Amino acid sequence: MNILVLNGPNLNMLGRREPDIYGSKSYQDLEDYCYGFADRYPVSIDVKQSNLEGILIDILHYADDHYDGVILNAGAFTHYSYALYDAIKAISIPVVEVHLSDLTKREPFRTISVIRDACIDSVMGLGFQSYEEGLKILLESRDQT
Ligand code: DQA
Repeated sequence: MNILVLNGPNLNMLGRREPDIYGSKSYQDLEDYCYGFADRYPVSIDVKQSNLEGILIDILHYADDHYDGVILNAGAFTHYSYALYDAIKAISIPVVEVHLSDLTKREPFRTISVIRDACIDSVMGLGFQSYEEGLKILLESRDQT
């Protein structure tokens, strides 16, 4: 299974960004963690990041023909990007929404995810492990088809 991990705005600032919420590990650490899935699961992994909504949309379109599933942390776009919602709906591969932090315990605007209904599932609040749980969901969804 070819899996794309796609990270949105400000995730490149991990380690420097609000470490009390996101932890002290860097974005490079997150990439390394995700690439490590290939050692433990029957998958190949690519990891991409952009701060730009349009680029994330282009990558999702591209992913439809090149990957079997996407683990998506859309960052703040989660809360208001109907364009990302449409992009996820426009492709036929499964997308799992993931977040490092627990959105239910933060500012009220973060409790809304406009992309959730386009995704097969969502995982939050587990730090880097949210991505691994997202991967397990993709693997299970493949087993059920
Ligand atoms: C985030 C949560 C979002 O609300 C925030 O805008 C982010 C990161 C998370 O991983 O916890 O950039 O998606």
